[in-house]
Amino acid sequence: DKGGYRHFMAKEIAEQSSVLADAVEYYLSSAEGRAAIETGLDFSQVDRLVMVACGTASLACHTAKYWFEQIAGIPVEVDIASEFRYREPPISDRTIALFVSQSGETADTLAALRYCVGKAGRIVSIVNVAESSIARESDVALPILAGPEIGVASTKAFTCQLVVLAALALQATRQRGARDDAALATLEGQLRQMPGYVADAMTCEDQIRDISKELAQFEDAIFLGRGAMYPLALEGALKLKEISYIHAEGCASGELKHGPIALIDSDMPVITLAPRDNRFDKIVSNMQEVMARGGKIVMISDAQGIEEAGEGTWHRVALPRVDSPFAPIAYAVPIQLLAYHTAVAKGTDVDQPRNLAKSVTVE
Ligand code: M6R
Repeated sequence: DKGGYRHFMAKEIAEQSSVLADAVEYYLSSAEGRAAIETGLDFSQVDRLVMVACGTASLACHTAKYWFEQIAGIPVEVDIASEFRYREPPISDRTIALFVSQSGETADTLAALRYCVGKAGRIVSIVNVAESSIARESDVALPILAGPEIGVASTKAFTCQLVVLAALALQATRQRGARDDAALATLEGQLRQMPGYVADAMTCEDQIRDISKELAQFEDAIFLGRGAMYPLALEGALKLKEISYIHAEGCASGELKHGPIALIDSDMPVITLAPRDNRFDKIVSNMQEVMARGGKIVMISDAQGIEEAGEGTWHRVALPRVDSPFAPIAYAVPIQLLAYHTAVAKGTDVDQPRNLAKSVTVE
């Protein structure tokens, strides 16, 4: 049931604020985090966290790496399952191995999990389908509570994965004493606000629909981000290519000068994720480098960021000001909407894009 929407993807984007509220409530319902109480996960003696997944789920892991390292102080390795499983990486019993999968049936992720059984201290999964193979074969399976996701392009599962990962990172922070109580309470308060920010971000939909009609005329696009917005830039590119078939690349904006800038000309839209955080000046200077070469910047920031960036951008999308490491959860909305409306403008099969399956159960 598409619930009155034209596509499942549109419905699933729109319901994010409400399913995220459920996930936040579930994982932050007690001071210690309910997941800690029910699962007995203990990050205090852990040397390393290894996170393995495919596609969008792996980009949730890359985003969470910033949280686990910067907030909880745990060294993190993220890998895509198809590489991890054949690389034979050494895994000690002081490692928690964490697998993220919406379906819980992705063949490479399951094989990577099996590789870690008997090696890692704990096998943890973050899944949407509670009865899945990956959930069953884990020591601890944490639900993302997104409800069924039908569109092949993952949207609400991604943001719910981010919420669960953020809650786990906060739990790890508490257990390791990496932040004092006041700092932890602030971070927890910020995570609680994310469903509201996601609802606010939906108000930019009309504007994004207009931008998408123009974007649909191009053959390529680049997504730029720094810090935890870098994995989100990769996710924006994945989403756009997956459903609109426009060739897109995600790029860490600091890497621009090391190659990708050669691609910039007036045929290149560059979608820039530019929250007003401590790297804002740097991303503005990257935008200027793009504009100086004729590149068309779509700047996604807040109203003040857009004002500070000045003239010369092609389009601007103003989100509410989100002053938190968890900002990628809110910034996911405009990139999902951009991919969605671009695909609609091109007339592609949004929910069932060519050559793709919802669950990749073969290698
Ligand atoms: O079910 P999973 O989360 O394990 O699936 C992983 C990827 O196949 C999936 O995220 C894929 O990249 C999506 N179609 C992206 O929108």
